Formats: sequence, C-alpha cells, structure tokens
Amino acid sequence: MSAEATGHADQVLVASNRGPVSYAVAGDGSLTAKRGGGGLVSGLSALGAGAGTWVCAALGDGDREAARRAGARLDPADTGGQAVRMLDIPAVTFDAAYNGIANSVLWFVHHLLYQTPLEPVFDTRFEEQWAAYEAYNAAFADALAEEAAPGAAVLVQDYHLSLVPGLLRERRPDLRVGHFSHTPWAPPELYRLLPDPVARQVLLGILGADRAAFLTERWARAFADCCAAVLGAEVDGLTVTHEGRTTRLGVHGLGADADFLRERASRPDVDERLAALRAQVGDRKTIVRVDRTELSKNIVRGLHAYRRLLTDRPQWRGKVTHVAFAYPSRQDLAVYRDYTAEVSRVADEINAAFAADGWTPVVLHVKDDFARSLAAYRMADVALVNPIRDGMNLVAKEVPVVSEQGCALVLSREAGAAAEMGEDALLVNPYDIAATAEALHRALSMPADERARRTKRLTAAATALPPQTWFLDQLTALRAM
Ligand code: F6P
Repeated sequence: MSAEATGHADQVLVASNRGPVSYAVAGDGSLTAKRGGGGLVSGLSALGAGAGTWVCAALGDGDREAARRAGARLDPADTGGQAVRMLDIPAVTFDAAYNGIANSVLWFVHHLLYQTPLEPVFDTRFEEQWAAYEAYNAAFADALAEEAAPGAAVLVQDYHLSLVPGLLRERRPDLRVGHFSHTPWAPPELYRLLPDPVARQVLLGILGADRAAFLTERWARAFADCCAAVLGAEVDGLTVTHEGRTTRLGVHGLGADADFLRERASRPDVDERLAALRAQVGDRKTIVRVDRTELSKNIVRGLHAYRRLLTDRPQWRGKVTHVAFAYPSRQDLAVYRDYTAEVSRVADEINAAFAADGWTPVVLHVKDDFARSLAAYRMADVALVNPIRDGMNLVAKEVPVVSEQGCALVLSREAGAAAEMGEDALLVNPYDIAATAEALHRALSMPADERARRTKRLTAAATALPPQTWFLDQLTALRAM
C-alpha cells in the first residue's frame, strides 16, 4: 500500500517483533485471534482508537496463516480496529533471527547471561544466523518504507530490530525515526564479546535513528559508552555524533497503568482466584513473585534465598508461603527448557525438605493466568523481584499498586526499576543468597506503618509515567527534532 493511500506527515508507525495480536489454527483450519497487552498496546491507544499503523512479524504457524489470508492488513475485527501489517518472513529466517540472534546473542549480551568459559562461540552457524537477522531487519525496513507517508514518525522497538533505523534511513531519509530499547544495555567490556563488525553494525543501525531511547539513564549511558569505545563516536552527555550524524539519546521510564490494573484486579475472576489462593495459603504471610521463566529473572536464586531464610530463620517455618508464578517463555530454546525444569526441581526440593502440618512452603504455578497473577499481587506481603539484570521490570511497579495491605519490595539493584524505586525498596545484589534471604526477613518483619508509608511512595514512583504518557512523550520529542 502506498504512502499516499495510508496517511500524511502526522502518521505514526510502530515496529516490533511481537505484534498486538497472535493467531492459533484450530483443527478445522479456522483461525482464532488473541489480543495481547503490555506497554506498547496501551501506549499507542493514546493516539485514539485505531490510530497509527503497527508492523510486526508473524511468530508462528497461526500468525503466518493469518498474514497470508489477510494480505497487507490484518482483519480489524481481530485487532480492535488497529491497523496491523504482519510480515510473513520465511520461518527459517525468522527462527534464526529471533531465536538464534535476538534471544540467544543480543539478549544474552545485554543481560550478562553467558557462561564465558564455553560461550559464546561465533562460528559459521552464527554467521548464517546473522545473515538471517539482516534479512529479517531488511524486511521490516522495506515494509516501513512502503507504509510511511512523507515525514511520518516511526517508532522502532527493541534489540530484534536494531538494524532497522539505519536501513530505513537509507530507504527513506525524510522520516523521523526513533528506536526504543526495552532491555538493559551492556557495558563496553561485555558488549565487545560480539564480533567487531557485528558490534559496529548494531550500534550504527540504532544510530540511524534521530532519537534512541532507553528505560533508564544507566542503559542510555552504557549505549553511549559503547558508541565511544567501539565506533570512536563523540559523546556529549546524551548526544552521540558519528560521521557527521547526531543521534539524541532519551530516557523514558515506562510505568504501571494504575487505572487499568486496579479495575482489572477488582473483577470477579480475580476475586475467585484470590479466594482459592487464600484457602491454600491460610493466614500465613506471603512472598510473591510473578515472572516469565526467563533466565535473567533469577528465579532459581530466589528459591535458594527462600530456602536460606527458612534455614537461618526457623521462626518463619510454617508462617510464610512463597507464592511463585513462573510462566514458560521461549521454549524453543533448550537452555530455557532446562531452566524451567530447574525452577520446578528446586521448588520441589524445598517442599520436600520443609513441608509440615498442612504447610506447603512453595506454591509454584507455571500455567500463565493473568487473573491469578493479579490475585497474588493483591495478597502480597512481600514482593520478590531479583533479576540478574532487567531493562525495567514492571512486576516491581505493579505489585505495590495492587497489593491490598501494602507490600514490602525486595528488589534487585540491577533492575531498571531500582533507579526510581530504590529508596523505598529493599535493594539486593541478585547473586547474593544470604543478603537476599536477609532482605526477605527484613521485609517480612517490617512494621505495618512503615510498610504502608513505603508502599505509598513506591506506588507514586511506579505510576509516575503511565504507558500513554510514556508513548506520547517519545513521539513529542521525536517530532520536536
Ligand atoms: O524486555 C524486552 C522484551 O521485548 C519485552 O518488551 C517483552 O516482555 C519481552 O522482551 C518479550 O519477549 P518475547 O517476545 O521473546 O516473549
């Protein structure tokens, strides 16, 4: 579809790997659409119902089939009226780009996940996957170039699409392009694990944007440090100049959507799940965690810390329950499947060692259920959020908003959220089991009035930048350039 047919200079395009809807194919060949949530979906809604165009990738067979049947636009009935173009990138290319490069290399570098004696290994397989990543990024750049009206604003999301800004600028220099990183950014000494040409290409790709934005200043500065170290770029505060082009860096700390959360958490399906959890836990205190089963979330060390709490502070035995929801993620990758199994193994081990008199020390659920997650938020006395590294971590922001009695937050100092919530959370080194156990003890022992005061301030910090403002701020800053 041509630019003239779709819009004008006020046009806004969003590009992300995962789109706002996904499809499953039923036995009879029919397709069922499922709409997703998240910051970007509610952010984009700030433009008004159905405004903006979203370009995303088909992730599985259902999506691929829907993209083929729909052509240039998905059926608006499936997307709530949102204009969505879903790219049917060949499955082999997509798999190599998404699983091979985005999730197994770039994600690992930014979250410090490599066990460096044996990995990474950049050899022929990596070279093939990198070529696929280039092709996948080029497919996005082509689609955006075709969709965009003259002067349109394009907001490109995340590490999957790091080459898109540069590729798009070559195709359409008239566009205003922003890139947003939802992840942390690695410091130069770790970023330089990447082969030199790849390290350069990723930075140059993002520098193709007019603005490159991050969730915290820490990640923006790390990106600037990498530009200086790898490219020899000139860095002046949050401005990076390289080969005559300047890219401004921005910081937009996405917050929780309080109105949505409170309304959703008060519905009957959440009440039902709360009652079921309460029946299971009794009047014991709760330590709640809710995560995708993601290597960076550090769920296993969280369980070790809980075991240490029960070992070192026996007064908590029978008095506290660890409610841990760990929802499967990226199960195409063996290392994620192994990690998922390890979470269950350690939880079972703790239960086998400590369970007594009707008390189950760890209540672990692995089936994704948003209503049950909200029920857990409501009953949380303590929230445990201990990632190795995290761009922001929205769970840390959501639990204080929803918790009924106020909760104490044990928070990793390596989560982006620590920059905004560190004063009222109990900050921990995510690798330190003894320190995390001690923070859990302090959190459980926190007097009610202190907990209430802290929760109030945590909630204020968590909701300071709701998704719609977060999105509009980026757009305004980009358009002002
Ligand atoms: O944190 C970066 C991010 O892209 C988030 O926006 C999102 O929650 C997650 O990673 C998505 O991962 P995936 O699409 O692989 O499930």
